[in-house]
Amino acid sequence: MYMPELIRKKRDGGELTAEEISYIINGCVSGEVPDYQLSAFAMAVFFRGMTNAETVALTLAMRDSGDKADLSGISGVKVDKHSTGGVGDKTTLIVAPIVAACGVKVAKMSGRGLGHTGGTVDKLESIPGFRTSISPQEMRETVETCGLSVTGQSGNMCPADKKLYALRDVTATVDSIPLIASSIMSKKLADGSDCILLDVKTGSGSFMKTLDDSRLLARTMVDIGRGAGVRTAALITNMDSPLGSAVGNSLEVIESVEILKGKTSGDLWTVCRELSCRMLMLAGIGDKDECGRLVDEAVESGEALKRFEMMVKLQGGDVSYIEDTSKFRKASFSRVYAPADGYITHMDSEKIGLITVLLGAGREKKDDDINHAAGIIIAAKTGDFVKRGELLATLLADDESRLD
Ligand code: URA
Repeated sequence: MYMPELIRKKRDGGELTAEEISYIINGCVSGEVPDYQLSAFAMAVFFRGMTNAETVALTLAMRDSGDKADLSGISGVKVDKHSTGGVGDKTTLIVAPIVAACGVKVAKMSGRGLGHTGGTVDKLESIPGFRTSISPQEMRETVETCGLSVTGQSGNMCPADKKLYALRDVTATVDSIPLIASSIMSKKLADGSDCILLDVKTGSGSFMKTLDDSRLLARTMVDIGRGAGVRTAALITNMDSPLGSAVGNSLEVIESVEILKGKTSGDLWTVCRELSCRMLMLAGIGDKDECGRLVDEAVESGEALKRFEMMVKLQGGDVSYIEDTSKFRKASFSRVYAPADGYITHMDSEKIGLITVLLGAGREKKDDDINHAAGIIIAAKTGDFVKRGELLATLLADDESRLD
């Protein structure tokens, strides 16, 4: 096959065959197809889209481009969840221990921050000592012992996605439904769980800004999952304002631990309760009412917190930070006050995410170090009434110039 011909075919609106897509993905991994041709291919897909058959073929080719997790040694049903990316989205830290406390195993591979969105791996690494890079054997043992393990993507899993994603990130081709769907689902299918719950974010802080696009992305991913024989469902959740009040790595761990300690109110809890419930339902634990009751009990009894602490300990983290979250280092701060009386009618979550990156909580360049204590604590959200001079948000950073 001849790569320029395949790019032309897609560019002109043609449908690629599964063999042609395999050729592109194999060439991506071997290096035979250079970055500039892959980037041109991604741009052609961005403008022309893909048929369902093409999206499935791309997903399966990327899934098969590297190693796959072997969870067969872990007893019981394994359920996974994945968010399409948001601001202040710390749901995995809350949902995974709750589901584990209800008897369903979670062996989850998570990502790092991406653009304006945060990543679970960066959040967990703000706990001193916590290791997100552990061997498959250690992961299996952790899941068997406490019911959950959250790690980073292991070395050679979906290398085609890794490469294509890095190119998409810098060629303005991230926000394409077939490319997002195949990127996420290739990794989820390689992860090897029995069930997958997708949390498709919609609104100003997500990659999909409209409900119609979010629905289409959800439908596409669910069809791919079910087509591959994995029980798959999706929720579409609001990302028009950041989830909860903390945005930034250790700040989000603290907020998650507060929920696990019983501070169950607000939008973050509403989303986490629903996600946990749906994961249990997918795993066949019961109906909505039954699963809701189990979720509430897992938090009220302290079992979910216990599971989280066990995972932290088993993965090398200093659990005293979870017992007493005031131990997390504090950054310098500056406060933002309301300039006038009024209702907050809208929040630009993407901008809030980008500000968090500028404060040091995310990476501006691929190899940047993260400041785990940096971020934003939001004091008022959409729908709230504030008086002039009332606190809107606290910005945290170590470097005064970043606060400016
Ligand atoms: N998350 C992913 O893993 N891939 C995408 O393309 C977007 C979000």
